[in-house]
Amino acid sequence: RQALIIDCDPGVDDAVALLLAFGSEAFELLAITAVGGNVPVVKTARNARILRQIAGREDVPVFMGADRPLRREPAGAGEFHGAEGLGDLTPFEPHAPCAEGHAADAIIDLVMARPAKSVALAVLGPLTNLALALRKEPALAERLGPVAIMGGARAEGGNITASAEFNIWADPEAAAEVLATGCDVVLFGLDATHQVRATEARIAALEAVGTPMADAAASMMRFSQRVERKIVGWDAPPVHDPCPVAWLLKPGLFGLKPCRIAVETGSELTRGHTAVEFREGVAGALPHRWATSADADGVFALIAAAVR
Ligand code: BDR
Ligand code: CA
Repeated sequence: RQALIIDCDPGVDDAVALLLAFGSEAFELLAITAVGGNVPVVKTARNARILRQIAGREDVPVFMGADRPLRREPAGAGEFHGAEGLGDLTPFEPHAPCAEGHAADAIIDLVMARPAKSVALAVLGPLTNLALALRKEPALAERLGPVAIMGGARAEGGNITASAEFNIWADPEAAAEVLATGCDVVLFGLDATHQVRATEARIAALEAVGTPMADAAASMMRFSQRVERKIVGWDAPPVHDPCPVAWLLKPGLFGLKPCRIAVETGSELTRGHTAVEFREGVAGALPHRWATSADADGVFALIAAAVR
């Protein structure tokens, strides 16, 4: 089984990603770490605990992490996730509390205690927790297995600004720091995640499953369907955050290209834009990977199997 830590800011699509991971036996889930992003960290940590309770996975510890980006003001994306972060799902106080300690320390402790390259990390929110962990323990970069990140915008354009995707825009300095370390980064940006859409038929298929996990996943997608229709004019909302988790389960579902990625931190106009260089001769070396394509049916098949 693949040992995995998920760093996230649930978030309706983070919620689906967590349900996918909780229901997939191929993972040994070491921890969920929460970061402030879509909503403040107190809420994202609570939402992670709600989802683990729905999934019956209270064996997985949830750690609370950074409540604000390294240098920027906290932004939030409540209009896409609801004021509490879980769309139409009314939050409640979960039975089990957060584990003791900061998310960044949990990442360091769990990864450094295990064999090199054996723990994968999926990052589904702003990269603040991982940047803090790498500052504190630089050896973490070499120790970590694949770091599968939802973030970035290139050909598809941005979703929070014309140039940038939310997770990278929210804490561009953290993203730039992470990319400058030796981490084995695979970025699932909008070029790939916009290919994975919750069509009416896919949502209806989940609703037909009838388990609490399937109902929760479908409810997140119904909420996205409503807000994306209203805000962006799309009938089928993209389902971003499950992509890196799905890739860890089934790498063949995504097309990846080696590249070197840099993040814009100086300009306000293009803050958080990901500049992706594919030309080795220009870049010198291509230490990162960028997702260019996705098999949406394959991703939804994994989600359906996990919530059943
Ligand atoms: C990303 O931003 C967040 O609002 C979503 O949860 C996802 O992680 C998409 O740009
Ligand atoms: Ca997210």
